[in-house]
Amino acid sequence: MTLAPLTRTRRVIVCTGSGGVGKTTTAAVLAMEGARQGRRAVVVTIDPAKRLADALGLESLADTPTEIEGDWPGELWALMLDTKSTFDSLVMKYAPSRSQAEGILRNRFYRNVSSALSGTQEYMAMEKLYELHEEGGFELVVVDTPPTRNALDFIDAPRRLTRFLDNRVFRLLMMPTRAYLKAVNVATRTLLRTISRVVGSEVVQDAVAFFQAFEGMEEGFRQRADRVLNLLADPATAFLLVTTPRADALEEGRFFAAKLEEAGIPVEALVVNRMHPRFASVGAEVLRKRAGAQGDSALAGLYENLAEFTQLAEVEEAHVAELSERVRPAPLVRVPFLPSDVHDLDGLAEIGTYLFDGDGEPAPPQTPGH
Ligand SMILES: Nc1ncnc2c1ncn2[C@@H]1O[C@H](COP(=O)(O)OP(=O)(O)OP(=O)(O)O)[C@@H](O)[C@H]1O
Ligand SMILES: [Mg+2]
Repeated sequence: MTLAPLTRTRRVIVCTGSGGVGKTTTAAVLAMEGARQGRRAVVVTIDPAKRLADALGLESLADTPTEIEGDWPGELWALMLDTKSTFDSLVMKYAPSRSQAEGILRNRFYRNVSSALSGTQEYMAMEKLYELHEEGGFELVVVDTPPTRNALDFIDAPRRLTRFLDNRVFRLLMMPTRAYLKAVNVATRTLLRTISRVVGSEVVQDAVAFFQAFEGMEEGFRQRADRVLNLLADPATAFLLVTTPRADALEEGRFFAAKLEEAGIPVEALVVNRMHPRFASVGAEVLRKRAGAQGDSALAGLYENLAEFTQLAEVEEAHVAELSERVRPAPLVRVPFLPSDVHDLDGLAEIGTYLFDGDGEPAPPQTPGH
């Protein structure tokens, strides 16, 4: 199994999965493969480990991608997502005037809400992906995702902000500015007073100013959100699920797969990262029998050891097979536990040998006892 067809043909690849499984690493490896295949590729990373960021030349948050020099016919670019500045540029893009944009960017409520609102990071990741795809001239955009509990957060995120802007309470907050709603005004003022007592009148004033400043921009945001969603659902986009063979990660993997399926989005590849190697070509049971046949000799202990390692690999393989069955016909690729962290281009290239050369295939499964 290899992921080469994905990096060769798709225009967008989204790496999803639970926390710490290797999403950022996988995303970087996929973009690198795109460059090796001669494409102009970019990876959007989210909170990469410091050493990997250094290796990718991402010393600081930059809103624009940096090119990584390397020995490939295509181009490899990388950027670290900066949620705040992505949101700011979206505001600049959709504000009818510069002064309205500046009013929003200065607003305290916006400054707090733009990074704290749940799903904002996911939304901005999707927004960046759309921008690079549409305007960056990239043939392949690989996007890493934040460690979310729910895969649908990415799909939901673009709509969440427009829903937030549509929120009825906030509609009410904005009403005092609309003269034709005099009757409601009294009720609204009472509501505002009540809210003010709870959260403080400054907060309410900031919030009102924020929603007033956003007036007229919701439509632009909504259309943009729809375009982002269309891109995610496009056949040129592939969702890839990364997991480890540990029971908890696999459980989350199943959950992710189910959520994506609910949204009508197929998982197009399953990457099982950090698998334990399998050293023996026979099953754990056979090895235990051999250990027994050795009596008290040193060889018996070694056979026991090998039996334990083999059993671990067998259990992992059985768990993985279950998830793989769930996401069929998505290819399954296995990446072994490497002796050290993946923090430079060589490390990424090594992971690449498993994702793209099919070297990660284990020995054919053995039936215990035969
Ligand atoms: N196959 C591997 N062998 C050894 N170390 C690995 C392997 N894959 C990833 N790592 C290391 O594991 C750590 C976590 O990987 P990574 O940052 O890619 O995960 P993530 O899913 O992006 O995490 P988060 O959810 O926190 O963003 C990193 O230090 C990385 O170098
Ligand atoms: Mg990560």
